[in-house]
Amino acid sequence: MGEKIVIFDTTLRDGEQSPGAGLNKNEKLEIAKQLAVLGVDVIEAGFPVSGAGDFDAVKAVARRVKGPIICALARSIEKDIEIAYNAVKHSARPRIHVFLATSKIHMKYKLKKAEGEILRLAVEAVKYAKAKCPDVEFSPEDASRTERPFLYKVVEAVIEAGAKTVNIPDTVGYATPFEFAELIRLIKENVPNIDKCVISVHCHNDLGLGVANSLAAAANGARQVECTINGLGERAGNASLEEIVMAIRTRSDIYKGLFTGINTKELYKTSRLVSKLTGMLIQPNKAIVGLNAFSHESGIHQDGVLKERITYEIMKPEDVGFEAMRLVLGRHSGRHAFAERMKALGFDLDKEKMEKAFARFKGLADKKKEVFDEDLETIVEEEISKIPEKFRLHHFYIASGDQVKPAANIKLKFQKKVLEASSTGDGPVDACYRAIDKITGAGGKLLDYRIASVTSGKDALGEVSVKIASKNAVVTGRGVSTDIIEASIKAYLSAVNRLMYKK
Ligand code: KIV
Ligand code: ZN
Repeated sequence: MGEKIVIFDTTLRDGEQSPGAGLNKNEKLEIAKQLAVLGVDVIEAGFPVSGAGDFDAVKAVARRVKGPIICALARSIEKDIEIAYNAVKHSARPRIHVFLATSKIHMKYKLKKAEGEILRLAVEAVKYAKAKCPDVEFSPEDASRTERPFLYKVVEAVIEAGAKTVNIPDTVGYATPFEFAELIRLIKENVPNIDKCVISVHCHNDLGLGVANSLAAAANGARQVECTINGLGERAGNASLEEIVMAIRTRSDIYKGLFTGINTKELYKTSRLVSKLTGMLIQPNKAIVGLNAFSHESGIHQDGVLKERITYEIMKPEDVGFEAMRLVLGRHSGRHAFAERMKALGFDLDKEKMEKAFARFKGLADKKKEVFDEDLETIVEEEISKIPEKFRLHHFYIASGDQVKPAANIKLKFQKKVLEASSTGDGPVDACYRAIDKITGAGGKLLDYRIASVTSGKDALGEVSVKIASKNAVVTGRGVSTDIIEASIKAYLSAVNRLMYKK
């Protein structure tokens, strides 16, 4: 039968720590539901002490998502643990994940505490958590840079205190695969009670080795891997879930006897959902879920694949749910066909959202002859986001050309009023954004602007993602339309509304 690798997904916690990838409660819930469909074993839903918004989101996930263990992160502080437990206690399978740094660097500069005190605090925290929740995980933060004898001591002590899982994080992505594999072997050899817990790993990707380190650890005895969809996470991100899962599956000759419970056919859909809701676009050459992951450009490769697929394909696109974008609906499709398609795509919409999404679909079908699944996903996911639309686009007009200064006139709906402003700019998008700033007073700094087509063809939907920064927050916004100026305006307005909501 082999041994299962527990997939611990931390997209909603470490992944959400990617700058600008903030998610609201409904977005987290939507992703968590899809993670359950994907078949992850554990969902780390957030860090509840970080704010009321995150507490509510973790609570909602614990209440409403069935199947996986729902986990919340806490520092080794009673207040954190208390709050984390209050957020996850409604789940049928709650877990508290406590952490405390153990490396010399972190103890000296960040915590200003000596080894003895760290050991005591770790044990007390695990005991405190254990008194509330039977399932406790402990992470010695920066484990890969921790003095080995002290690491063994901490691991042994927290197991004794009741931790069921001990996670070994490569917090700063410093480890290399041979070294990290050896660390797992040494922990197994030097911690006498190690068989009483599951060894987990959590690898960051600063040197691009997050997946390689996680796989090396799994091959050497780790039985839980912490990872994120699309490799989101602090700085260069975490090990990518889809890459780990497909490597274990595709190279079963190497990872003998190991398996995961992931329904790989859901990988592509999950990846797109996370990308849309976080505003973090996926590079086309990203392994497993990038748009080019299964495209063959060179004639020699195309010829080879046509003769025999396995010449250049080591996985089948359908195994990860990457199917050709299908034409599903058109201008004459009615409500019933639309509702059926929504169900097939996995959207469970209430009557009001279904009506709104249908109206958007009709509008799109008038502009665009062919409506693909991906178009439908895009418009529906826009409807799912629950950020109140304080400002909504009412009308826009632009003048642009190579002989004139680009100018825009914008009308926005705001509390039943229509507000209007005009501006010139470096280009039509800049002119629109300046006019919007005049109306909303938001005036955030535009950090990033990206445009991509959702499907192919001249009439494809254009999808714009923007990232803006104000004094206190960095937020993203997305907008889609067959008109790229309109998509740009909608993206900017969604970011502005998000900023207002945060304030
Ligand atoms: O990277 C890290 O060390 C973490 C811990 C909280 C597990 O995210
Ligand atoms: Zn981390």
